Amino acid sequence: MRILAIESSCDETAAAVVVDGRWMRSNVVASQAELHAETGGVVPEVAARAHLRQLIPVARRALRDAECGWDELDAIAATAGPGLPGALVVGLNAARGMAYARGLPLIPVDHIEGHVRANWLDADPPPLPAIALVVSGGHTELLLMTEAGTFERLGGTRDDAAGEAFDKVARLLGLGYPGGPEVSQLAATATERRFRLPRAWLRGNDDFSFSGLKTAVLHAVEARVESAGAPAAAEIAWAFEESVADVLSRKLVAAAEREGVASVLVAGGVAANRRIRERVRERSPLPVFIPPPALCTDNAAMIGAAADVHPEAMVAPEAALDIDPTPYRSRGSSTRS
Ligand code: KG4
Ligand code: ZN
Repeated sequence: MRILAIESSCDETAAAVVVDGRWMRSNVVASQAELHAETGGVVPEVAARAHLRQLIPVARRALRDAECGWDELDAIAATAGPGLPGALVVGLNAARGMAYARGLPLIPVDHIEGHVRANWLDADPPPLPAIALVVSGGHTELLLMTEAGTFERLGGTRDDAAGEAFDKVARLLGLGYPGGPEVSQLAATATERRFRLPRAWLRGNDDFSFSGLKTAVLHAVEARVESAGAPAAAEIAWAFEESVADVLSRKLVAAAEREGVASVLVAGGVAANRRIRERVRERSPLPVFIPPPALCTDNAAMIGAAADVHPEAMVAPEAALDIDPTPYRSRGSSTRS
């Protein structure tokens, strides 16, 4: 299938043309980062309005880059959730309008599944079953993928998402938005690498917690203001990144070994993190798949890749269809209790 995919769940307006869920013919991402940098985070209403302005030009550009005409498409896909409701409404309905105008079917896609599926783009496909860790600004999910399109949720964060922790720590350290890349760059400049921050192992299950770590960063930052011998900002950033990379990699690899899967996948914006990529690769005895950084952060190619494995979700554009902004509800998924 040749699919035009649209992504608008948070602060990137994106469109891509993907063939057979594997081959990326174009991938256009219009980031709103500058817009949200002023407020230090995403204001949902501002994001929705920006999507409204960007969506049509971005979709046209994706078709142009792919040298693909409307009549060469087999379907249009769009993120239906999870995400910011206003932002999702804009993207899903724009996709619906395009599908209606061109007589094409529409495929609603789960954003989390999209992140996982980025591992199938322009690369050797990972063998299944697999364990997938999705770490983004809104999610930290550990999933068992038994076959294409079928997931069992093993665990996830009990408080902050991994990316949210990076963004909050960036703010505590006086850095900009989005915080992940900034914290990582500062961490790389640390000369003294001794300061240690806590790790929440939550033993005996596949859940994560980052709020205690965030509080520990706050205390370290306050100590810095009060005493000359306290760790420098770069050391705090380094210790924070080490703690997150340590917990994510160990728990991911432990789950993979326990479940006896064939491969380990990492996805989502935080998977762009160099130290996390390194740690997972160091520790996993199983083959590790992580998309290139540009396909870890939000994009539409991943939505096109996920749409391809869900032909059963295809609907006519005039069908009753709504956004699904609530977290984790991939079609066919279940939660282990
Ligand atoms: O997947 P994504 O683009 O959007 C969501 O679905 O949330 O993830 C965005 C998150 C942000 O929290 C951002 O700070 C984080 O991914 N991020 C990173 C890095 N690049 C992006 N975190 C750590 N290290 C990075 N290099
Ligand atoms: Zn995302």
